[in-house]
Amino acid sequence: MTIADLVQRMSNAAAAADPQAAVRSEMERLKGDLDGLGRMLSYLPGVGGNANQAFFRAPNLSLLKVNFPNGRRTPPHNHGTWANILLLSGSEKNTLYRRSADETLSRDREVVLTPGDIVTIPADMAHVAECLGDEPAIGLHVYGTNVLGVARLMWDPETLRALPLDWRQYEPLAQRASAMAAAPLAG
Ligand SMILES: [Fe+2]
Repeated sequence: MTIADLVQRMSNAAAAADPQAAVRSEMERLKGDLDGLGRMLSYLPGVGGNANQAFFRAPNLSLLKVNFPNGRRTPPHNHGTWANILLLSGSEKNTLYRRSADETLSRDREVVLTPGDIVTIPADMAHVAECLGDEPAIGLHVYGTNVLGVARLMWDPETLRALPLDWRQYEPLAQRASAMAAAPLAG
């Protein structure tokens, strides 16, 4: 498989009646060669924000390689659309949050991913992702819109106040989230 093949397969899935489910099915097929997929994406660092992580963007689809190094935790954020994550290597904990009408978060559930595991995040939810263990958590992230062309939210990890996602403001929040003992509202 080449990058072009991956883009074609995901583009076809994104055109399905239920794109999130179709992308999940494609991810299930990719699980047979996680190492090959990881090698194919090795030209991307996967760090430094979505602009550096995205290797394909269309109005209805973004493909990203995301690398969370040891100790890294995101602030709560949404994606402005549905999101699916296929973990390629390492271990990653996702904490999913429900959002009320005033953007107050309540914890929904935790999902620990090991290689080959998939988490599907509905458009109306938010999440925190964090690396577990010493090895970087590297995943293929697929979103149902142009990730750099959509209004998104991030939440202060300590006050849980909702803010527009602004990449200039994101990194200090990520550093504070990473310094916390656990994800916000952890059970
Ligand atoms: Fe995310």
